[in-house]
Amino acid sequence: MKFETLAIHAGQEPDPNNGAVMTPVYFTSTYKQDGVGRPRQGYEYSRTMNPTRKALQDCLAALEGGNFGLAFASGLAATDTVLRLLDSGAHVLAGNDVYGGTFRLFDKVLRRFSLDFTFADTTDPESVADALTPSTRLVWLETPTNPLMRVTDIRAVAEIVHSHPNRPLLAVDNTFATPYLQRPLELGADIVVHSMTKYLSGHSDVVGGAIVVKDKELAERLYFLQNAVGAILGPMDSFLVLRGIKTLPLRMERHAENASAIVDFLAAHPKVEKVYYPYHESHPQNQLARRQMKNGGGMISFLVKGGHEAAVRLVESTELFALAESLGGVESLIEVPAAMTHLSVAGSQLDVDPSLVRLSVGIENVEDLLADLRQALG
Ligand SMILES: Cc1ncc(COP(=O)(O)O)c(C=O)c1O
Repeated sequence: MKFETLAIHAGQEPDPNNGAVMTPVYFTSTYKQDGVGRPRQGYEYSRTMNPTRKALQDCLAALEGGNFGLAFASGLAATDTVLRLLDSGAHVLAGNDVYGGTFRLFDKVLRRFSLDFTFADTTDPESVADALTPSTRLVWLETPTNPLMRVTDIRAVAEIVHSHPNRPLLAVDNTFATPYLQRPLELGADIVVHSMTKYLSGHSDVVGGAIVVKDKELAERLYFLQNAVGAILGPMDSFLVLRGIKTLPLRMERHAENASAIVDFLAAHPKVEKVYYPYHESHPQNQLARRQMKNGGGMISFLVKGGHEAAVRLVESTELFALAESLGGVESLIEVPAAMTHLSVAGSQLDVDPSLVRLSVGIENVEDLLADLRQALG
């Protein structure tokens, strides 16, 4: 089946008991067993598995071209679970422009458990090759990155990582692109991670995370950790993400259509210094982005003239673009990463320009969005 069909049907059958077309929200923590050690359909306890979560997990696996999906209470809970695959002393090579919260988890929490991190420019496959050490067990990258929209060649990095003697795992945070635009497992990654809080749920009403893998042995280790650590997604949130995913292809097309009109407007505006958007010709990896991604997505960053003060004034002047953290919902959002989403990386090597503004372009009428930006920049 094609992506649009999978988004609606994968993992979801009409309920065998009553024909309900939509997967019910199974509000239950436990399941009656037919005898000691004889659970019905394998369900024993909802931390281990819940039917609503299972439908979502199976749908995620299908969309990413993987075999196994896992849903978590947040994107960071999913990330944390991947890192728990490692033993103390392991080295992790991560991109130097990853989401601020991912950096904080690696740098401020997991270092205390004797994991070692290096942050490198993954957009240059050679610098990935140079930064691998005999102890490297995991390479972690985002593409496009948050907030600078840098694009990494997943296939080229996968080849380098997998030809290293210890064959480290390659994990890709696919939050910005979603599986509709880019499928890292098909390009050689071992693990895909999502903040489902963003485009997958798509309506800014859920916090959730996901992992998808192809390999059975890796999946078994992750399912063990999901149950043993316990940061699972609840049934109501699983239902909401399942519902959101049904319109993912339509939403991603509209996000990109609106974003590309806004990019053209910003690039020509005298108060804008520089625009960051993978599908814009000024983007340094424009050709790679066009090969690797189906469209440019809904995220845009840009530098405004006049520094941090001007950026703050701009984001406080929009009326339709809501001044808010997060991204990927149907409504348009605006923020200053240096003072908001990326405050946790201030002063580190991931520091972002204080005059950078980030837009999460929603699916409203683009004329209204342009009018709002025009008046706010004015
Ligand atoms: C690219 C990316 N990865 C991971 C996360 C973390 O996800 P969550 O907020 O669901 O924990 C975020 C959150 O903004 C993100 O933008």
